[in-house]
Amino acid sequence: MTEPIAGEHLRKSILFFSEFDDPRKWRGLLERGLPQFRVECWPEIKDPSDVEYAVVWNPPRDCFKSLVNIKAIFSLGAGVDSLLADNSIPADIPIVRLLDAGLARQMSHYAIYGVLHFQRQFFEYRRLQAQEKWSPLPVTLANSFTVGVLGFGTIGRVIATDLENLGFPVIGWANSSKSNVDTEVYVGMTELDDFLASSQLVINVLPLTAETRGLCDERFFSRMRPGSYFINLGRGGHVIESDLEKAIDSGRLAGAMLDVFASEPLSPKSSFWKRESVLITPHISGVTLAEEASDQIISNICLIESRQSPNGVVDRERGY
Ligand code: GLV
Repeated sequence: MTEPIAGEHLRKSILFFSEFDDPRKWRGLLERGLPQFRVECWPEIKDPSDVEYAVVWNPPRDCFKSLVNIKAIFSLGAGVDSLLADNSIPADIPIVRLLDAGLARQMSHYAIYGVLHFQRQFFEYRRLQAQEKWSPLPVTLANSFTVGVLGFGTIGRVIATDLENLGFPVIGWANSSKSNVDTEVYVGMTELDDFLASSQLVINVLPLTAETRGLCDERFFSRMRPGSYFINLGRGGHVIESDLEKAIDSGRLAGAMLDVFASEPLSPKSSFWKRESVLITPHISGVTLAEEASDQIISNICLIESRQSPNGVVDRERGY
């Protein structure tokens, strides 16, 4: 007779799926925090009716269909756009996203790097170095380099505070008005043009929703200040990439730092690779940290098990 594997005798299970996160590590963390559950990794599910929770990133489209007893689905990221695009998830099943869980600080560090890169003109100095030229450029001080944070939720607020602490004037833009913030936040489409005209550099950290898809288009870039900069940490779907290319080619934008793209991985054919004023990274501005994220998910499952509401439930109408 074969020995039962640990947890095999437990009926209730948690489904795990991610191509980017280590399933063995996650199984260990979740089973330690929730010993009443066993963790099963898609597609190896013993009995789909045992699955009560799912912890996933970009799961296969039909993976929820047979999970008749599912109580909640947890995203392994802050963004839930790909889960919301899955019509097979019943409307009454809560989808829960990560609230910060270590993502905000990482993304803020990425943003700070980008802001300093452009404000201190490191991209120009790189070019001058290649030409072996010793050539000091005029300096723009931090206090006259206004940074606009597009999207003012958990992550946007951390970025704004960190940049303010470094001496940059910061403004925000959000779909709805925000309370308890010291930063000046422009609200709604009617104030978007003023926000763009006031920013020397725009950092996008919006969630991808029906309202924000394609927001960064020709009109958007034409409202940005001549010679300004754009950093995208949100989603590729926010940007009409051909319009961004035109804005760069025309000189309206002096540079961009892009971590996300409409199609990932970015095609080897994309002209972004070759542009001198564009910095590209492969969707790494904030990577999910297993310890922090699993703590948050475990606390939320305990809340649901004790009939309380979890934190970070997505409003499906709003899209985040
Ligand atoms: C990463 O893209 C996330 O949504 O957390």
